[in-house]
Amino acid sequence: MEEKLKSLAEEAKQEVEEAATLNQLSNLRVKYLGKKGHLTSILRGMGSLSTEERPKIGALANEIRSDLEILISNRTRELKHQEKEKRMASETIDVTLPGKPFLMGNKHPLTKIQQEIESIFLGMGFNIAEGPEVELDYYNFEALNLPKDHPARDMQDTFFINPEVLLRTHTSPVQVRTMEKTVPELPVKIICPGRVYRRDDDATHSPMFTQVEGLAIDKRITFSDLKGLLAVFARQMFGPDTKTRFRPSYFPFTEPSAEVDISCVMCGGEGCRVCSQTGWLEILGCGMVHPRVLEMSGYNPEEVTGFAFGMGIERIAMLKYGIDDLRLFYDNDLRFLAQF
Ligand code: DAH
Repeated sequence: MEEKLKSLAEEAKQEVEEAATLNQLSNLRVKYLGKKGHLTSILRGMGSLSTEERPKIGALANEIRSDLEILISNRTRELKHQEKEKRMASETIDVTLPGKPFLMGNKHPLTKIQQEIESIFLGMGFNIAEGPEVELDYYNFEALNLPKDHPARDMQDTFFINPEVLLRTHTSPVQVRTMEKTVPELPVKIICPGRVYRRDDDATHSPMFTQVEGLAIDKRITFSDLKGLLAVFARQMFGPDTKTRFRPSYFPFTEPSAEVDISCVMCGGEGCRVCSQTGWLEILGCGMVHPRVLEMSGYNPEEVTGFAFGMGIERIAMLKYGIDDLRLFYDNDLRFLAQF
């Protein structure tokens, strides 16, 4: 029996060494070590052995079993390694091949300008507020001192969803919404960027465009605060040599009101085609918040004052980049958009 075991061990060892696949190895494991395997069946015959021989043969069989286990697992590792090497060799990538080019987008010029404006005012302590584009007549007109029969409503005709709901014509309603939410706290210092809508459509007017509103409310805010702030804004936006000029104007929600011009970005104030020989370019409307607007939003105009301003982002972008047709912003022509 000892002979039989030894030759079985030899035979198994050889076969394991010659096994070329993991599959063959696992078959060999079954063949020699399995429940119906060769080793097991030899051991079944142990009953016929003498009592001295039995432990000797038992020990030998165990030794052979564990040697075989080790052999098989070593060979398994070896084969796995070989397989991996083979796979790696067949899957090599040529890292010197040129990559597939893909188009990198860039920000829309209006987004760029909006973010530039935001960062200038954020730097001066303003927060960003937003409001709905589908707005109530009350916020868009009424609470801004534009009652139903007010003639100034004519300049801001818009799209009505029903007599009380419309597409907002300016970002000014966000002033009111913000004051209502903040009252009685002070100060209020916000800018409100967003889309607005009007019944307009030509080379310089679009039925949809973008504005940024500004509002500051506190004790003892004066017109000179407004002048200083907008002068700083103009210099940061258009360059350190930019001059500003305030002209008296009218808005129902501010009193007094003004329009702000900057020195022409093209000629620096000499007079050219862009500024129609005036040396100046209009960039925004502004004023001291009308006492009635403060009152309707819950603030006491005897205690607080404030200023507001509103500008068109398209206009700022056109001046800054020298664009002469508003419609280019909405055409989605990559030859235009890729330039920014
Ligand atoms: N809402 C005005 C418009 O769209 C612009 C404006 C003017 C806003 C004066 C203001 C302001 O806040 O004080 O024409």
